[in-house]
Amino acid sequence: MKINSISHICCIGAGYVGGPTMSVIADRCPDIEVTVIDINKDRIDAWNEKDLRKIPVYEPGLDEVLKRARGRNLFFSTAIEASIAKADIVFISVNTPIKSKGVGAGQASDIRWVEASARQVAKYAKGKTIVVEKSTLPVRTAAAIKSILETPNKNISEDESCQRFSVLSNPEFLAEGTAIKDLEEPDRVLIGGDDSSAIEALKSIYLRWVPKEQILCTNLWSSELSKLISNAFLAQRISSINAVSALCEVTGADVREVSKAIGADHRIGKKFLEAGPGFGGSCFKKDILNLVYLCNHFGLPEVASYWEQVIELNAWQQQRIYRTILHKLFGTVNGKKLAILGFAFKADTNDTRESPSLRIALDLLEEGALLSIHDPKVSEDKIFEDLNRNEAAWEGKWSYVKTISEAVIEADAVLILTDWKEYAELDWFDLAKKMRAPAWVFDTRSIVEPSQIKSAGLNFWRVGDGVN
Ligand code: NAD
Ligand code: UGA
Repeated sequence: MKINSISHICCIGAGYVGGPTMSVIADRCPDIEVTVIDINKDRIDAWNEKDLRKIPVYEPGLDEVLKRARGRNLFFSTAIEASIAKADIVFISVNTPIKSKGVGAGQASDIRWVEASARQVAKYAKGKTIVVEKSTLPVRTAAAIKSILETPNKNISEDESCQRFSVLSNPEFLAEGTAIKDLEEPDRVLIGGDDSSAIEALKSIYLRWVPKEQILCTNLWSSELSKLISNAFLAQRISSINAVSALCEVTGADVREVSKAIGADHRIGKKFLEAGPGFGGSCFKKDILNLVYLCNHFGLPEVASYWEQVIELNAWQQQRIYRTILHKLFGTVNGKKLAILGFAFKADTNDTRESPSLRIALDLLEEGALLSIHDPKVSEDKIFEDLNRNEAAWEGKWSYVKTISEAVIEADAVLILTDWKEYAELDWFDLAKKMRAPAWVFDTRSIVEPSQIKSAGLNFWRVGDGVN
């Protein structure tokens, strides 16, 4: 398909990926009009908020990018038809959660929003249009998208409809909390497809700021699969080090020292070796489950069960931490006040999807604990929504606190569950005075200095520490 020049881009889905990704594209390509559309009007209104503290996604550096591009060549809109109609490229960046019902429930990706997006494009696109899969998808989804797009459209002549669309895969590798840096300086950009002209057109966008050696082109299926495998490898490292953390605790070793020692080998590398409360986030679990489903579907049960272990270990690590807390607090937390520091799944994001904090909080509530929850970026409403999605009866059992000093008043324990920088800089002498003795600090993120906690007279446990 011949594409002469790209003047308009449309992105379907204004979420954690669509919003930041398109902001950076618009920032780097001031001559291209970029419109991000969504069926959720509240979300679009929030993206259009004058007060940048109210935009729906918290990402360091995003406000600066928006200040430059929003209203210039970056727009957030609910005008789905008009935005698709004028686009040369349409990115599909909608949610792809795990199916909750029917065939593959609990494992397979639910691609109904992707299908709906493809149908919208088939209906409204005018002229030649490149359709780009930005969402993370099961291998061979591009074939389904192509088939929807190629269905004859009664409003368009056969001549016109011939070769109207080209489908490419361009998965996103950004991590939340570092999204802007990841987008501005990506390790690689991956483009999968078989239409060289469409590939060149998409490549020409990234070439504005990404060195050409870092733009990898593959066939469609390799690109779709690489995204799933990339997340599976990252998650596998976390489950591996979390498994080691349990071994350290019983052998007298220290997981931080082990991570440092093994990570010094450049073949292993030092990143993604931090033991913690288990990985969270919207994607690792869902993408591995999807991989497990695909392996079984293609008759590879041994490969499926290999990857399944990564998820099982992760759930076990969360359970293990909750049981440790219970054990250290004399086997009961009933009626005890526990301060939870951090509700986001990692620092520098307001996202709570699959947060280990939520899982651990729910287990503790189940045991009768009273929680005071602090997070610098997650709102009280979001915590309320998350806790009540699982169980409707926690009223009066938890409270949202704005300050850490307030969280710890008369608390039996402080649980550090998210690696926010401010939790590494606390005055433990001051906090210890407010707590009920004998009080504990459980550091699941290895961010506080043990000697400070101990000299403040507090009991201390941290993940993977067999020395304390
Ligand atoms: P999200 O839930 O934050 O956003 C998706 C948005 O799509 C929602 O606002 C929803 O209203 C909108 N939407 C759904 N159907 C639509 C339709 N037919 N028309 C218009 N809008 C529609 O999801 P996300 O976190 O941005 O993830 C999107 C995709 O990117 C997923 O496949 C995910 O696996 C992948 N991904 C996510 C991350 C991440 O860090 N969150 C990173 C890489 C890849
Ligand atoms: C992850 C990948 O890193 C991205 O490349 C990918 O694009 C994205 O998933 C996706 O597809 O959604 P994200 O989940 O945003 O990004 O954040 P990560 O930094 O990968 O952290 C995931 C979880 O692992 C967090 O709960 C984090 O605290 C935990 N983690 C991370 C550890 O416990 N230890 C580590 O060493 C690293």
